Amino acid sequence: MTNRRIIIDTDPGLDDAPAILHALNCGRFEVLGLTTMAGNIGLDNTTRNAGRLLAAMGRSDIPVITGAAKPLARGVIDISDIHGSDGLHGLALPGPQAAPRPDAVALDGRFALAEPAGSVDIFAPGPLTNIAGLITRHPAAAARVGQIIAMGGAVDEPGNIGPRSEFNFATDPEAANIVLRAGRDLTLVPLDVTRKVRAGTAYMAALRGNPPGDIAADIIALYFGTGRESRPLHDPCVMLRRSTRACSDIEDRHLSVDLAGDPGALSPAADQPATKIALRVNAKGVLDLLAAGLTRT
Ligand code: RIB
Ligand code: CA
Repeated sequence: MTNRRIIIDTDPGLDDAPAILHALNCGRFEVLGLTTMAGNIGLDNTTRNAGRLLAAMGRSDIPVITGAAKPLARGVIDISDIHGSDGLHGLALPGPQAAPRPDAVALDGRFALAEPAGSVDIFAPGPLTNIAGLITRHPAAAARVGQIIAMGGAVDEPGNIGPRSEFNFATDPEAANIVLRAGRDLTLVPLDVTRKVRAGTAYMAALRGNPPGDIAADIIALYFGTGRESRPLHDPCVMLRRSTRACSDIEDRHLSVDLAGDPGALSPAADQPATKIALRVNAKGVLDLLAAGLTRT
């Protein structure tokens, strides 16, 4: 099976980090670049953390490209209590070994136009600000992107920001609205799935033994915070969706994005294009595959 060529559009972020490490180490993806945006923490920190993770993996050959410094039409949501003031709770990692490149949206557009249509997927474990920019500023390029797999939304589950809104969609509901309405090959991995994929202390300890596994274990320990015995690994579910059917049971749903009352909340809307939604998951299967990808030598 040839490696899927992917761009990871990300806001690292404690749960983005093991997702990125897995994609770099599992042997199933050719990571063409990391594009960043403001989300879990500001753009400077998400960009620096992307460079630090690449440096830790000896992959500073992979470019980091800076994207949106803020959502399309509102401010960011402060969740630094979860991710820490630097976005990785002070995790000791090397500094970036290469300067980031500017303008993720323009770069994604150039990639999409230069590469064979459908040959590059975008994995999106963060707010959809950059992808919305690609769709609106470079529609011809956006049409050549392969799959877009995004962690976002809550369908039949409560939200984690508002009553029914999930953080990535609540951070930039206008962007989520543009991406869902664009009718692209989009698969959402919502809280309905990701809340079930939980790492506990035994799982974390079993990851140790090689650099990506050690870093992931350190990050999960930090993600536990004070007194928590487990945390949902939201973002790794994006990578696992593409590499296996562990997040099985994809349903087509026609959904609208709330921009006012509970920004980012999803509601049934017959007039919207269908979006593929992962609604059930083999959580043990995802965790086993994540561990295998992180500990692969
Ligand atoms: O709701 C989960 C999402 O919000 C994840 O992408 C996590 O990184 C946080 O940003
Ligand atoms: Ca994220």
